[in-house]
Amino acid sequence: SHRIMLGPLVAAIDQGTSSTRFLVFNSKTAELLSHHQVEIKQSFPKEGWVEEDPKEILQSVYECMERTCEKLTQLNIDISNIKAIGVTNQRETTLVWDKETGEPLYNAIVWLDLRTQSTVENLINKTPGRNKNHLKHKTGLPISTYFSAVKLRWLMDNVKEVHEAVVSHRAMFGTVDSWLIWCLTGGKSGGVHCTDVTNASRTMLFNIHTMDWDAELCKYFGIPMEILPRVRSSSEIYGLMKICSSRKSGALSGIPISGCLGDQSAALVGQMCFQDGQAKNTYGTGCFLLRNTGAKPVMSEHGLLTTVAYKLGRDKPACYALEGSVAIAGAVVRWLQDNLGIIGSSEELEKLAASVGTSYGCYFVPAFSGLYAPYWEPSARGIICGLTQFTNKRHLAFAALEAVCFQTREILDAMNQDSGIPLTQLQVDGGMTSNKLLMQLQADILCIPVVKPSMPETTALGAAMAAGAAEGVSVWSLNPDDLSEVTSEKFEPQINPEESEFRYARWKRAVQKSMNWET
Ligand code: G3P
Repeated sequence: SHRIMLGPLVAAIDQGTSSTRFLVFNSKTAELLSHHQVEIKQSFPKEGWVEEDPKEILQSVYECMERTCEKLTQLNIDISNIKAIGVTNQRETTLVWDKETGEPLYNAIVWLDLRTQSTVENLINKTPGRNKNHLKHKTGLPISTYFSAVKLRWLMDNVKEVHEAVVSHRAMFGTVDSWLIWCLTGGKSGGVHCTDVTNASRTMLFNIHTMDWDAELCKYFGIPMEILPRVRSSSEIYGLMKICSSRKSGALSGIPISGCLGDQSAALVGQMCFQDGQAKNTYGTGCFLLRNTGAKPVMSEHGLLTTVAYKLGRDKPACYALEGSVAIAGAVVRWLQDNLGIIGSSEELEKLAASVGTSYGCYFVPAFSGLYAPYWEPSARGIICGLTQFTNKRHLAFAALEAVCFQTREILDAMNQDSGIPLTQLQVDGGMTSNKLLMQLQADILCIPVVKPSMPETTALGAAMAAGAAEGVSVWSLNPDDLSEVTSEKFEPQINPEESEFRYARWKRAVQKSMNWET
């Protein structure tokens, strides 16, 4: 059989909250050549707790690599054409492992987890003026259950194995990127313990101005700095893949891992939002709207986060972004499926909702993990309101999709107020964007067009671009003039703005009812 001659290829590991993917791109055309996806189990051991198994996460990466390599071989594509691998990941999710045994010391505490709610409330109560933005000047973030520092503190206080490993200098902390890179570069025999600036900026231990771990923040949360990974840029060679040669994916051994970005930053890069003012919204488990603010960190007055967007090379400047984070987007679909059993798949949700085309006055606020931006209210809880005898599961399905759109509208409003320059269209990506009804609803509720690239794997593309552009790899140019044109699909608003405003006002009332549920 003939091998197909191609230019250099770049791969990406995309480790999200709900699934793991491995994807291979052609660096000259950004074309996706092959990929594989595996779902990740989540466990909810107590109300509000969300955990994942670090070993299952790692195994899922190996499995995706293995399957993708098989598919490439079937396509007659030589695996040795892969010149670099990028890593992109669910952010904030917190792990601690033992550097001598290589074993995780507890499950990964997922970003959505609420177990630290009382810790967070105590911390806020102790600040002058009960100010949740007490650490914002350094971190860009409000004190919240969302970020890693409080999760790490919980592990040190509540898990004996973690405590002991910290005391005996055997503990390593990391977000999912660090865990994967450490394991893939050799683990206990020489693995590289690092993270990138975008992931670091979500821990609450990182100073976004000095671009380094901050001793004062570490002291505030009682975190010993020696357990932290080394912070690197988002595009440089961190180490080489070490993988067992008996596998198909053994052919990946020796390839540099040279890109690392939190998934929302990676999507911003994958959507080519390199200019100040450009923005994208990604619909995954949660939903995250990021707007590039260029070389300067802009502090929000309207409940958005200030975060590191990317730093594409050791000597390159950092770029910042304003971010609106919505905790529950795709997660509401999984909830309707797994917890209520009213749908068998996400495609069914679209059909069900489309069959009525309205929620008939039903509003669903899925505040399962409290409310994130712009409220940052950990005590909010989900509600469904406006029910009548007439309401059925179709209306509920429609209300669930609308909830995702209304939450995005709240973020967009905050973003427009903060920047003073309203967005005239919204670039979107992520799993849920294959739902055409959702996309149309989103345009209707925002009253601006929604634009979706035809290649949906923008997050992975961003990580591949960072990896391919790294010094010492240099197979991918990030010069906007060299980047290939993207084809896209556009959804124009179809309802009148008055109707849209009416529904949005109702939504806001529902949100008010979801707040302070616990107090
Ligand atoms: O901050 C959490 C975010 O990175 C998770 O992304 O795509 O898994 O919803 P996703």
